[in-house]
Amino acid sequence: MREYAIGIFDSGLGGLTAVKEMIKVLPHEDIIYFGDTARVPYGNKSRSTIIRYAQQDAGFLLSKGVKMIIAACGTVSSVAAGLKNELPVPFTGVVFPTAHAAAKATRIKRIGVIGTSATVNSNSYKNEILRLDPECTVMQQDCPLFVSLVENSFISPEDPIVKLIVERYLSSMKEAGIDTLILGCTHFPIISKAISNYLGENVTLIDSGKETALYAANILKENDLLNKNTEPGACRYYVSDTVEDFRKTADIFLERSVGNEVSHINLEQVMVH
Ligand code: DGL
Repeated sequence: MREYAIGIFDSGLGGLTAVKEMIKVLPHEDIIYFGDTARVPYGNKSRSTIIRYAQQDAGFLLSKGVKMIIAACGTVSSVAAGLKNELPVPFTGVVFPTAHAAAKATRIKRIGVIGTSATVNSNSYKNEILRLDPECTVMQQDCPLFVSLVENSFISPEDPIVKLIVERYLSSMKEAGIDTLILGCTHFPIISKAISNYLGENVTLIDSGKETALYAANILKENDLLNKNTEPGACRYYVSDTVEDFRKTADIFLERSVGNEVSHINLEQVMVH
């Protein structure tokens, strides 16, 4: 099974920030990515819908024969964490590793969490941080417009629209004096420069994609599932909406070209369970 690919999914493009980190951490692993671009965003949907979508996404990756599944989506990780008990392969979301990194990074025990509405309403990051360190104060803010900004390539830190929305969402956190901010949605690292310009360099930003890649590498190691290959791994991408749209934006997230390695799939035709 060691030579099988790692399966990574997200509601859309955001999970590619985790793919990028995974390639850095484990360059010899093959990766199969699924982005549910036809149904993004998940962050404003009901709990039962998010769980059903997550089961279908994971089912598709299993049908490709993967050795591990990563939900590189803050929303799925927060709402559908129970997926872990339904899968025949190791699974992780982004909440656990990211909350750990934040609890470790904070010096004054004041942590901010930003994510989609579903993520913030679930209190997933907050509960995990408080479990680790009950003395922490955790402020939360949902930032649904950040997802739209990123999906539509409004990402320049100098763009007045980006600056305005960042200020609108983050002014109370700035006033409250947090020293650590969890980017609890995998779309958000793309606008981290704008966020950091606004909050100042004393606030540490925690990138959920990066922390999750490091954590997933440990899980693979513990399960003796690391690929012994010495060649660079291959990445294959599947999307539920058009390949062209994905190709246009994916390079920004990945900081490299997806080339011809993208295919469209119809999830309704994939049998789940
Ligand atoms: N990537 C998703 C997340 O991390 C955000 C987009 C969505 O709402 O589906 O929560």
